[in-house]
Amino acid sequence: MKPVLMFSGKGGVGKTSISCGVALYLSRVHKVLLVSTDPCGSLASIFERDVFEEPVEVKDNLWVIELTREKILKMWREKFGEDLYAVLSSIIPVKKDALDYIESIPGIETEFMLDFILQALLSRKYDFIIWDTAPTASILSLLNAQFIFYQHLTQAQRIYFKVKSFFQKKPLLKLIDSWKRLTADILDMLKEQTEVWLVATPEPMPVTQAIYLEKELEKFGMKVKGIVLNRLLLENECPECRYFQQRLKLQNKWKELLKSQTQKPVVYLQEQEAGLSLSLLEKLGEKVIA
Ligand SMILES: Nc1ncnc2c1ncn2[C@@H]1O[C@H](COP(=O)(O)OP(=O)(O)O)[C@@H](O)[C@H]1O
Ligand SMILES: [Mg+2]
Repeated sequence: MKPVLMFSGKGGVGKTSISCGVALYLSRVHKVLLVSTDPCGSLASIFERDVFEEPVEVKDNLWVIELTREKILKMWREKFGEDLYAVLSSIIPVKKDALDYIESIPGIETEFMLDFILQALLSRKYDFIIWDTAPTASILSLLNAQFIFYQHLTQAQRIYFKVKSFFQKKPLLKLIDSWKRLTADILDMLKEQTEVWLVATPEPMPVTQAIYLEKELEKFGMKVKGIVLNRLLLENECPECRYFQQRLKLQNKWKELLKSQTQKPVVYLQEQEAGLSLSLLEKLGEKVIA
């Protein structure tokens, strides 16, 4: 198993629940960090604790953090703000508050949060990092942004190299080089150290998105380990009930369709009638991973 396990799929299909379950299960014998980057995070309510601004050990071997936009931007400014300002101001006359504009670019915080996951991985504090992601669209644009950023840096490197004498006073090339290395490390983490689990429920949009995501992520070079089909109704539960039978028919249609469109293993999880307790989540997690 790779050290980073990422859970992705449409909103509301069970990514957070299953991420928690897998994290709980793995933390029986491993050190685990559970990271949520979903802006509508719900780890706090699942673990019945306040928002996790820093990794909090919720039980032995399990740390949890909910990365909010504010938190990410603050970390980013501390780490890269000065450097970026140095680069910008050496090219064009800008004031420090230019950094505020950069922070307001939509989706930029997801870009920086990859750095957080990479640092957690490099710290070697954890055996596994479970990454509960934001829904489909933002995760794809995030991966593309990462790739485009890398290409830009390569180009910037060439341009600055040509006019090196002009920039000699500033350690520009060194800076660009270190960013490029960081981006390369992030791409490497995504492609070599990360396994993706796609989550869907047996309905049209979640299944369609999972199939789409599988193709797109693999095109990008990521490894999709399998698909979790969550919230299945029990067959024969209610043979007389027209509503139930209709739902079951729909469910079976999308179950079949998913099977016909993917070569990946599919793990089936049932709808839990009494909701999800932590111990139940752990059992679901075990079913996915084991
Ligand atoms: N197998 C299941 N049985 C019953 N309820 C479930 C199941 N999986 C998820 N849920 C419920 O569905 C809702 C959405 O799940 P969540 O994990 O937050 O999805 P996501 O993170 O993909 O948005 C939650 O209220 C959760 O408790
Ligand atoms: Mg969620």
